[in-house]
Amino acid sequence: MKGLLLAGGHGTRLRPLTFRGNKHMLPIANRPLLFYGLDHLKEAGVSEVAIILGPIKEDIEEQIGDGSRFGVKVRYITQGDPKGLAHAVLCARDFLGEDDFLMYLGDNLLEHGAAPYLKRFARGDASAVVGAVKVRDPRHYGVVELDGDGNILSIEEKPAAPKSHLALIGVYLFTPEIHAVIERQKPSKRGELEITDAIWTLQERTHRVRAIQLEGWWKDTGQPSDLIEANERVLASRAAEFFQVKGEIDPHANVSGHVGLGEGGGIAAGATVRGPVILGKNVRIEAGAYIGPYTSVGDGSVIRRAEVDRSILMEHVTIDVPFRIVDSIVGRGTTISERTQLPKGHSFILGDSSQVVL
Ligand code: G1P
Repeated sequence: MKGLLLAGGHGTRLRPLTFRGNKHMLPIANRPLLFYGLDHLKEAGVSEVAIILGPIKEDIEEQIGDGSRFGVKVRYITQGDPKGLAHAVLCARDFLGEDDFLMYLGDNLLEHGAAPYLKRFARGDASAVVGAVKVRDPRHYGVVELDGDGNILSIEEKPAAPKSHLALIGVYLFTPEIHAVIERQKPSKRGELEITDAIWTLQERTHRVRAIQLEGWWKDTGQPSDLIEANERVLASRAAEFFQVKGEIDPHANVSGHVGLGEGGGIAAGATVRGPVILGKNVRIEAGAYIGPYTSVGDGSVIRRAEVDRSILMEHVTIDVPFRIVDSIVGRGTTISERTQLPKGHSFILGDSSQVVL
């Protein structure tokens, strides 16, 4: 079984976070999103992975390298301008050869990873296995309709009138039968080679596409609020070992729950931290500051006075205000401070597409 991990895509709905970088490298619990996909492929027994890169590569190759750190062999394929998920499969045709493969969209996060797909595939009656999860509003996803026995009745990409509440997850298991379908596929109305269309054609031809309904949570991190929720889910589900304390916690600091603190970091006397919280290397939480549950703080950040709750602060963020900051994402190198001179008021220097809620 080979692995295909997709890291193309522009991430326009995540601007301004994605103006500079690749959305797949945004941190969840202080780890790039893409690392979770690699972990899941490895856990599913995949040993060779091709990462498909789009126009914004950021430092994916530098950080993942040949994959040895993750226990998998990684190579890179440039898709160039992303022309759809099925196009990514086409770009990886030589790498995939005649092997079965797990395709994993790098912006998806799954509580239980890809193991359930392999379990279903092991029954030996599938040309492909797709996963579905019940969602309230399925219009933003591929939608699969099943009969009472779990057989697929229809699959549609982002339908205006969905026939079910089952969203297609961005993890797919394919046999090489999919290639013949994709080679003859025509672009959709939005000009892309849709994987959903390929799956549906395969189903019409073989009647051997199998769907599994996944238990546990699933997050497609398309929008900023999804990242905050994913951060919460990951922090909530990590075992105690994840929250290692390598820095200094003052005996007069008020720390409860699971709290991780990187090397060189410090939580001062009079600071309060309520886990689950992950603080990176050289992070300083100073007297009077409060860090609440489901917050992650990137390396080199300093928090003074402020209360921060359920938020993602990236690296080298400085916050020094007597306010409460909730449900927020703060990009690298940002400073939030108090204006002390007249005229009093809020003063902003914000990049394109920033969002401020006061
Ligand atoms: C893609 C697929 C869609 C699937 C979704 C899951 O959509 O086309 O069928 O439900 O991933 O994340 P995208 O997020 O690329 O618009």
